[in-house]
Amino acid sequence: MQIQATDKTTLTWSGDTLAVGLFVGGVTVTGELAELDEKLAGTIKELIAETDFDGKAGNNVVTRVGGDTPVRKIMLVGLGETDHFKLDTVRLAGSAIARLAKSQRSKSLAISLPIFDNNPALTAQAITEGVTLALYEDRRFKSEPEEHPLKLESVELLELGNQDAAITKAQQICDGVIFAKELVAAPANSLTSVTLANAVEAMATEHGLELEILEKEDCEKLGMGAYLGVAQASDIPPKFIHLTYKPDGTPRRKLAIVGKGVTFDSGGLNLKPSGSGIETMKMDMGGAGATFGAAKAIAQLKPDVEVHFISAATENMISGHAMHPGDILTASNGKTIEVNNTDAEGRLTLADALVFTEKLGVDAIVDLATLTGACVIALGDDIAGLWSTDDLLAEQLKTASEIGGEKIWQMPLEDKYFEGMKSEIADMTNVGPRQGGSITAALFLKQFIQETPWAHIDIAGTAWADKESGVNNAGATGFPVRTLVNWVCS
Ligand code: BES
Ligand code: ZN
Ligand code: ZN
Repeated sequence: MQIQATDKTTLTWSGDTLAVGLFVGGVTVTGELAELDEKLAGTIKELIAETDFDGKAGNNVVTRVGGDTPVRKIMLVGLGETDHFKLDTVRLAGSAIARLAKSQRSKSLAISLPIFDNNPALTAQAITEGVTLALYEDRRFKSEPEEHPLKLESVELLELGNQDAAITKAQQICDGVIFAKELVAAPANSLTSVTLANAVEAMATEHGLELEILEKEDCEKLGMGAYLGVAQASDIPPKFIHLTYKPDGTPRRKLAIVGKGVTFDSGGLNLKPSGSGIETMKMDMGGAGATFGAAKAIAQLKPDVEVHFISAATENMISGHAMHPGDILTASNGKTIEVNNTDAEGRLTLADALVFTEKLGVDAIVDLATLTGACVIALGDDIAGLWSTDDLLAEQLKTASEIGGEKIWQMPLEDKYFEGMKSEIADMTNVGPRQGGSITAALFLKQFIQETPWAHIDIAGTAWADKESGVNNAGATGFPVRTLVNWVCS
């Protein structure tokens, strides 16, 4: 399927399906729309009169145009209130149009949407992202091919001129989002620390990235007792993955992205009970998925920034050599941790990953983790939590997320709450009281950062969608690859 921007208008395009976005209040058929309506023998007026189409977001209608007209089907797509028009409005409209065009078995599609912020390039990029992600379907684990394979051959973005560069950029970003989705959606009997490392290696070779994999013995030498404590019950060896993108010439800045890479979280001896979501805990490497997804996009976009991508990958399992609740682990910065709950394993793996990362001497570190159910309770499934020691970094990430259409909300790093993680016997416990559980988790991570500007994004709610929503089909979302790419490339 080919996506292309063009100078053609709704009046000059001819083909299968023409989609036109309309705001609430914009459904009175005047101007260019009236001219189009005339060309289409009054079909638009009829469609509006015969349906409840009112321009509200999510209200989309389509009908066949009778007679010998240049367009076979006309689709009207609600854009909501003009006052609420954002870049994500066109991205979401792109997704809605693509899904409808797929179900209508359209072969050629034209999309007419308003330009956001006088910026046709950004508009074309967002529409392309919306279209590409909505049409993506993961059939790797199905035995049968699709019942209705995609008929769509061409998508034209009307009245945007030539936007080849913006469309290519969107496709490279989606490439990264889809890589993340595929890593996260793969079940734990397919995606392990070993196969994750292999997948990253193949991607690194394809895109010319440097890769270093630390084996268990290497991690032992570095004193990564917290990470290895989690890994010790698994029959599959841990893999500490460190991927690097280096630009040609001197980098403008050096950044690091660290992702929680727990390929399955059983809870350990504090075993997750049924009903707790244990059956979706293959997604507990959502942070790693987003990290390496961002890497795949960044390797193609080639910004003048050096970026390190890191994950301490392992399963959290039970066995005769599992860590016991109450065990004391020593992390690679020398700090001791009393493990009062083996299900709070992500922060243990991240502790050593953060210590390793800070030694690289980067200008900023961002970690991503499906870290706490408490974050989901606080912010729901659509919004990730953001904690940061650095206001500038937090602002950069918020801007990047706004452009990417991935919602994050800053939460407090309330130092006082760390009192709840006091241990009688070690430097800290790994779990505090139930209240403010996502905040104490962030404060725990902060113990493993000394001075580098750092941000933590808890993606426990956003890494996975139970049902289709916005640009995401049900399943792994690839959140927040778009935000990370925008941040690195800004
Ligand atoms: N992987 C989970 C967090 C999680 C929950 C991710 C829901 C995605 C969806 C994490 O390792 C965990 O088990 N956290 C515990 C912490 C608790 C023991 C303090 C939790 O949130 O219940
Ligand atoms: Zn857990
Ligand atoms: Zn976990």
